Amino acid sequence: MFDQIPDPGVPPVLDIVVFLQLTTCLFHVMNCLLMSCLGGSDALRSGETLKCAGLGIIQDQGWEPVPQTIMLICHKLQESLLSSASGFKNYRGILNWCVVMLVLSNARLFLENLLRYGILVDPIQVVSLFLKDPYSWPAACLVIVSNVFILVALYTERKLAMGTFSEKLGLLIHIINLTVILCFPMLTVLMVPSVTPVGGAFALGSYTILFLKLYSYKDVNRWCRERLAGTLMSVALQWNLYYFVSAPTLCYELNFPRSQSVRMGFLLRRLFEMLLLTQLLVGLTQQWMVPIIQSSMKPLQDMDYSRMIERLLRLAVPNHFLWLIFFYWFFHSSMNFVAELLRFGDREFYRDWWNSESVTYFWQNWNIPVHKWCIRHFYKPLLRKGASKLLSQSAVFFASAFFHEYLVSVPLRMFRLWAFMGMMAQLPLAWFVGRFLRGNYGNAAVWLSLIIGQPIAVLMYVHDYYVINHLEEAADPGAL
Ligand SMILES: CC(C)(COP(=O)(O)OP(=O)(O)OC[C@H]1O[C@@H](n2cnc3c(N)ncnc32)[C@H](O)[C@@H]1OP(=O)(O)O)[C@@H](O)C(=O)NCCC(=O)NCCS
Repeated sequence: MFDQIPDPGVPPVLDIVVFLQLTTCLFHVMNCLLMSCLGGSDALRSGETLKCAGLGIIQDQGWEPVPQTIMLICHKLQESLLSSASGFKNYRGILNWCVVMLVLSNARLFLENLLRYGILVDPIQVVSLFLKDPYSWPAACLVIVSNVFILVALYTERKLAMGTFSEKLGLLIHIINLTVILCFPMLTVLMVPSVTPVGGAFALGSYTILFLKLYSYKDVNRWCRERLAGTLMSVALQWNLYYFVSAPTLCYELNFPRSQSVRMGFLLRRLFEMLLLTQLLVGLTQQWMVPIIQSSMKPLQDMDYSRMIERLLRLAVPNHFLWLIFFYWFFHSSMNFVAELLRFGDREFYRDWWNSESVTYFWQNWNIPVHKWCIRHFYKPLLRKGASKLLSQSAVFFASAFFHEYLVSVPLRMFRLWAFMGMMAQLPLAWFVGRFLRGNYGNAAVWLSLIIGQPIAVLMYVHDYYVINHLEEAADPGAL
């Protein structure tokens, strides 16, 4: 160790280097000044300024340059990069920094979670979420039964096309069919005890999609009969209804745009994403969400507001991650997978909702199939009937709120209206953000409403479900 310490008798190398640099610099300064005094030199070229690190500015005097000359001028009129006046916009590095910080802070959370709870991921538990009894599959049976309603719609349209049914009779059958589509699964889920909440939500989701599709099917066939009178037979006799029911769209069309072939690479990539993200969704829910929700029950019961807010903020992070993963899994991987398989050409399932600077923009762009359906079959028909824009928008949000509540309350077998109110709250929120916030502030407000709004609803439903199903059972042992 000590052998490596330099002998103090020898002049330090650093001093010599500094001395040489200073001498060279001084020489260049004197050289430049001398030439400027003499008035004729090749050091400077006309119309230019020269730079020399740390030595000041000499303006051009019409001199010619010497290639080896060190530049003398190092300052110019300029703003600091972080001042808005600089016009600097490249913050790519800052974005990377955010990602690194995000990964690091979440790695810490991940470790903390593992140390506190151990591994909670349990694939068997997932199966039990769908099935109470392995020999009874009520949700799957419900989905299979939905074929009856598809066939009723097809039969009605064929009869309408052939002129056997009058328009009024056809409309009546469609209305009854659509009403039963909403009521039948609801009653089944409420009355059959073996339907689990997750199984019920899956079945009701399928029926809701079918309701929207058959509503569109009815409307488009009627429009065709009105406008394409000569070709109406061929329209309704087509058996493309099952293609439409399977395709990733809610809006019916006689001829969907089709891609030329199935790209196997694309298909397999989407399939891989679907499988991977399903595991991730299940794993993160069990390992991250469930413990936080469980630990939030007591503060909620005690109405301990500071702890409630702390749990809400803790829940906001995993909930938001899961929502983002779900978005990619559903709107990109799954829909593209089905579309590729069916050679369905229109792949616009979402637009750039993440850039939303207003709540309105978010709802126009995040779920394109639903938005398209709302515009085509509900919003525009209302406007055409003379309803005002505000009334039509409110009606759309009301219908959307109804379906959100339907999909949550019925499977949980409790009616609390949190989802309904969350959806209806979008109207005043849209007004507020549109009126008072612009640009990045508007974008931040949209993100905040997504990050905070959803966990509030999740906590409310879970708390109420817990109180109804566990506390009441514990209070009444005879009920068990
Ligand atoms: C309510 C909702 C439909 C409003 O949509 P919007 O795009 O803001 O509505 P706009 O007023 O801008 O107009 C939409 C269309 O109607 C047309 N329109 C507007 N006023 C019109 C009028 N008086 N007469 C005829 N057409 C009119 C516009 O030209 C536009 O047509 P385009 O789509 O062909 O360009 C939309 O916010 C929505 O879909 N909300 C619900 C979303 C939802 O619940 N999603 C669930 C996801 S889980």
